[in-house]
Amino acid sequence: MSASGARRPKVVFEGVSKIFRKRGDDLLVLDDVSLTVRDGEFVCLLGPSGCGKSTLLNIAGGFERADRGRVTIDGEEVREPSSRRVFVFQEYGIFPWASVWDNVALGLRHMPAGERGAIVQATIDMVGLGGFERAYPMELSGGMKQRVEVARALAVSPDVIYMDEPFGALDSLTRLTMRSELVRIWQQQRPTILFVTHDVDESIQLADRVVVLSARPGRIADVVEVGLDHPRDLGSPEYGRIKNRLYELLGVQHTI
Ligand SMILES: Nc1ncnc2c1ncn2[C@@H]1O[C@H](COP(=O)(O)OP(=O)(O)OP(=O)(O)O)[C@@H](O)[C@H]1O
Ligand SMILES: [Mg+2]
Repeated sequence: MSASGARRPKVVFEGVSKIFRKRGDDLLVLDDVSLTVRDGEFVCLLGPSGCGKSTLLNIAGGFERADRGRVTIDGEEVREPSSRRVFVFQEYGIFPWASVWDNVALGLRHMPAGERGAIVQATIDMVGLGGFERAYPMELSGGMKQRVEVARALAVSPDVIYMDEPFGALDSLTRLTMRSELVRIWQQQRPTILFVTHDVDESIQLADRVVVLSARPGRIADVVEVGLDHPRDLGSPEYGRIKNRLYELLGVQHTI
């Protein structure tokens, strides 16, 4: 049994289907998606544009309702958003009028100041923004802004983090750095992470398991166990084998 296999179920999708009704037409977006994500596991959802990845996260976050099936977290059905689970999006969700410190402190308003300060500082340091506490978003690079967003999510010690293409707007070198930093932080704190991407390499670099969704309606085409130790050797034969398998599942020719 793999290390992830020893952990208890955390986020469980049970036969989730979703239909959007558009101008009288029914659009089946998700069809009978069942998946068990274990506590502390890092799972990537990989699939073509429009296959329902964001919709699936929104259902798991309590922002959308499934038409059939349900999502449970720790055995409890998700019915509405909760501060125990947080989202990190691609577009910068940080507040431009607030400093790095205030952005990260946002979810901790109800905490005594001393405790809050310690957590905010530790989280800012963890994402590598020590020294920029008083900076405003306009003074930061894209990668730094995304770090603020990650820090804000981590500061509230969430059980589950949903990440929807969080590095999609970054240049390729910054993306690589952000991925390895995310893995480092995940190894320290072990939250459960569901990470949406349509980047095959990103999914292999990050995930314990990659869930491949078919084109709309999104169905699980397969779940691929990555099973490589971190830091991952991107040139290893095993990495290449997984990559080929994922491209095959996506039905994409990747030799040019
Ligand atoms: N609120 C909504 N109302 C109607 N249709 C919607 C709504 N949200 C999403 N859809 C439709 O559902 C489908 C899946 O959308 P979704 O955003 O989940 O896809 P995605 O896999 O995240 O795509 P991308 O990779 O481009 O972000 C799309 O066809 C979209 O047009
Ligand atoms: Mg999306």
